[in-house]
Amino acid sequence: MNFMQRLATGVATLGAVLALSGCERGAPFERPPVDSVQSGYRGTGMLQVYNPRILEPQIEANQPPAALPPAPSEGPKASQVYQNVKVLGHLSTAEFVRHMTAITAWVAPNEGCVYCHNPANFAEDSKYTKVVARRMIQMTQHINVDWQQHVSNTGVTCYTCHRGQPVPSKIWFTAAPQKKGADFIGNKNAQNTADQESVKGASLPYDHYTEYFKEAKAIRVAGDTALPTGNRSSIQQGEFTYGLMMHMSDSLGVNCTYCHNSRSFGDWSQSPPQRTTAWYGIRMVRDLNLEYMEDLTSVFPAERKGVLGDVAKVNCATCHQGAYKPLYGAKMAKDHPELTTLVQVVAGAGAGGGAGDAKAVKAAADAVAGAKPAGR
Ligand code: HEC
Ligand code: HEC
Ligand code: HEC
Ligand code: HEC
Repeated sequence: MNFMQRLATGVATLGAVLALSGCERGAPFERPPVDSVQSGYRGTGMLQVYNPRILEPQIEANQPPAALPPAPSEGPKASQVYQNVKVLGHLSTAEFVRHMTAITAWVAPNEGCVYCHNPANFAEDSKYTKVVARRMIQMTQHINVDWQQHVSNTGVTCYTCHRGQPVPSKIWFTAAPQKKGADFIGNKNAQNTADQESVKGASLPYDHYTEYFKEAKAIRVAGDTALPTGNRSSIQQGEFTYGLMMHMSDSLGVNCTYCHNSRSFGDWSQSPPQRTTAWYGIRMVRDLNLEYMEDLTSVFPAERKGVLGDVAKVNCATCHQGAYKPLYGAKMAKDHPELTTLVQVVAGAGAGGGAGDAKAVKAAADAVAGAKPAGR
């Protein structure tokens, strides 16, 4: 082979290698340069590495929709006019209809009001989606009121998770247990299974969601002394921690050093405040899954459930979707005070109305006709 031939073969081989690595796991090869932003003390290596080409479409995809104009709070209350309101009865009917218009756009823009309602009778709870939605309103209020250590006054709306679709794009189910066959193949404990999205394809145990976002297994398992002095945590427990950390980094689109000084991962005094926010986030996610999602198990139809019959659940990505703050910190909740306050349900509220009901409901539907989706 002469020099030119060898060069050509070399270039072709390099091309093939690049093409192969490009195809791997569907992630395109990203050419440099990447930007790095310092996020900690100088000399500690606390840098965030960003690729502007990935970031740009990501920022575009995370823009909040425009807010609806505010509605007057005067006039009769929803609880006086409608028949079956249990959570938002304190709103004026105008505010109530504004809320209905907003959740339709956030959760079911293509399907419209009928995604949750029987158009012949808006008061009845015959569709499971309406029952779920009522609980979701309460869950959103609970996040905004009781979890400010995590969501601050930025808060969340339905859009934070749903992004214009009935089923949020980032959810999880408990993984099916390993098929064991004969016992001599041992128990690999959900490890070394190729191509698991939850651990970004690493050979770590992949069902860390169940361990930490449903159960409350210990995350901090590293010893804090140089010599073994009684820490009985296994390597596998450490690997579960790493799986969780991969999920958290990936969900927020950050490196480990966004929350840790890598000279001592466990030391809180060397960690930036974001790590504390994340600590609350882990507890919040667990709370939402146990108190709201699991509670709805019997309401959801079988086709919405996982292989073990469990309900879809929340993780960090459900809200964050690759951004360090969901929607890059856009404050959507402030335009929806009905989602940032908890109102005690008054017994008997919502049983008002009577003869006027059909008219009131028609008026509500008319008020949104013309607003998309028209005629539903
Ligand atoms: C994502 C589900 C969902 C969508 C979509 C939805 N609603 Fe509702 N709707 C609810 C829930 C939940 C309630 C009960 C609220 C409560 O209990 O406080 C309700 C109650 C109502 C009521 C009160 C009925 C009564 O007499 O009790 C009216 C009227 C109403 N919605 C109108 C609409 C209109 C008009 C649209 C379309 C613009 C719409 N809704 C879209 C979930 C939804
Ligand atoms: C923290 C994230 C989160 C927030 C905030 C949230 N949801 Fe959900 N929602 C979920 C998850 C997870 C599911 C389960 C997915 C499924 O249906 O399989 C779900 C399911 C639903 C469903 C059932 C859809 C279907 O077709 O099965 C409705 C309706 C719904 N949510 C309405 C709402 C409304 C209305 C709000 C705001 C008041 C809201 N959600 C806020 C996470 C969220
Ligand atoms: C969004 C913030 C955040 C990111 C990003 C993050 N961590 Fe963590 N990390 C935490 C929090 C919070 C804890 C403690 C959890 C608890 O106690 O519930 C923790 C705990 C740990 C521990 C256990 C320390 C001990 O005391 O045993 C290790 C190890 C660790 N992280 C490594 C990593 C690695 C490696 C990465 C990158 C793949 C990473 N972390 C990314 C927030 C983060
Ligand atoms: C219900 C939606 C929701 C879920 C689920 C959620 N977060 Fe957040 N998170 C938010 C909101 C909203 C903010 C913005 C708060 C603010 O503006 O200070 C935030 C902020 C943060 C921040 C602070 C970022 C900064 O630069 O100040 C960290 C770190 C974080 N979240 C980590 C996590 C981790 C880790 C998880 C999963 C264990 C998680 N979040 C789950 C809604 C959520």
